[in-house]
Amino acid sequence: MAMTERLGVLIMYFALVSHVGAVRKVMPVAVPDIFKNKNVAHDKLLPGEKIYNVRSFGAIPDGKSDCTEAFMNAWRATCDSTEQARLLVPEGRFLLSSMFFAGPCSTPEPVTIQVVGTIVAPTDLSEYVDSEWLLFEDMDGIKLLGGGTFDGVGMESWLTASNCVDIPFGTCIRNPASIYFHRIKNGIIQNIKSINPKGFHIFVTNCANIRLRRLKLTAPNESPNTDGIHISHSIGVRVAKNTIETGDDCISIIHGSHQVSVYNVNCGPGHGISIGSLGKYEEELEVKGIRVRNVSMVGTQNGLRIKTWPDLFPGHASDIIFSDITMQNVRNPIVIDQEYQCSSNCEASLVQIKNVIFSNIKGTTATPIAVNLRCSNKFPCESIQLENIDLSLSLKSKPSGSRCANIKPIYKGMQNPQGCL
Ligand SMILES: *[C@@H]1O[C@H](CO)[C@@H](O)[C@H](O)[C@H]1NC(C)=O
Repeated sequence: MAMTERLGVLIMYFALVSHVGAVRKVMPVAVPDIFKNKNVAHDKLLPGEKIYNVRSFGAIPDGKSDCTEAFMNAWRATCDSTEQARLLVPEGRFLLSSMFFAGPCSTPEPVTIQVVGTIVAPTDLSEYVDSEWLLFEDMDGIKLLGGGTFDGVGMESWLTASNCVDIPFGTCIRNPASIYFHRIKNGIIQNIKSINPKGFHIFVTNCANIRLRRLKLTAPNESPNTDGIHISHSIGVRVAKNTIETGDDCISIIHGSHQVSVYNVNCGPGHGISIGSLGKYEEELEVKGIRVRNVSMVGTQNGLRIKTWPDLFPGHASDIIFSDITMQNVRNPIVIDQEYQCSSNCEASLVQIKNVIFSNIKGTTATPIAVNLRCSNKFPCESIQLENIDLSLSLKSKPSGSRCANIKPIYKGMQNPQGCL
């Protein structure tokens, strides 16, 4: 896209944002996919591509010297290049404080950031301006790859983390996410590792055409709020071939997410794949067109879950397919929970869930209720199909069971546990 065109789009974008008053209410916009039909599996230097090595800008790979200025200068050189360009982070450990990789860039898209070594986060929380460590913002065409590692050094921060799960409104201060994609169109994040983030591993919001491939995200089972990949207000997000071992959701998909696919992913430990929680904010945009296929879940707290808050705000979740999922010792394999975080006298949720398919879901459950579908009595679930479900209790002492409220599931093929009558 020409520079002037880009600026135009950007200005329109800001006009929109200020008009609606809050970033999260912007409707995600579909854009042409610049990587369509291209082989993105291998990273090749493009003809004439310039390499800006952070070491040439003074970065010292000892894990102790602050490399922020060197990274900023290297990034400016890369982003402002008028020729094809990439930023290179070679072998070694580079201490980098909170930094914005901000566009738009003048280099022909895509701009590449190749991380071979390890980028290490500072431990002092006062060094983080906002809710992220590394922010990638306002770019059309970016590749982040190289086999390297983002080390969030989160251990200390987990001890003092607020538990954002129990707090329904936006008052909870989250620990910074390691990698935050904001207003990125056409992004590939491929073959990188994230370990011990303070907050989420990867955050994707207000983005279009994002591919997240061959990632390895790792944090201890006990680490709080360390979601693997968190997606909101985005269209066309493809998550494939990832291994996610973490303390919170493997993948969480919330309001304004459209056309999200999750293929060939291993989850566990963690809290499983979650749509929601929804109905938490005013004027939430719908979640629509979600495909989750060939996922293996081992020892997760939940498997496949759609969760909405009772009695707060309206919302919609529809056109969702979970298929070919294996579960091993998962505590709550299939869940629709419209009374999220509510134990008694729950007011009905105002979120409508419809057109959901669970197909070929096999393996073991660690608790007796393998299928737990509790919908809203104001907006009962519509057209929810369960097809070929085979989930037995890990300790085969008794059969597994189902529970239903405000839903008439459509059953096809095998049902273990037996469907609700
Ligand atoms: C399912 O995903 C696993 C990786 O998680 C992969 O090895 C396997 O080939 C995939 N199967 C199919 C049918 O795509």
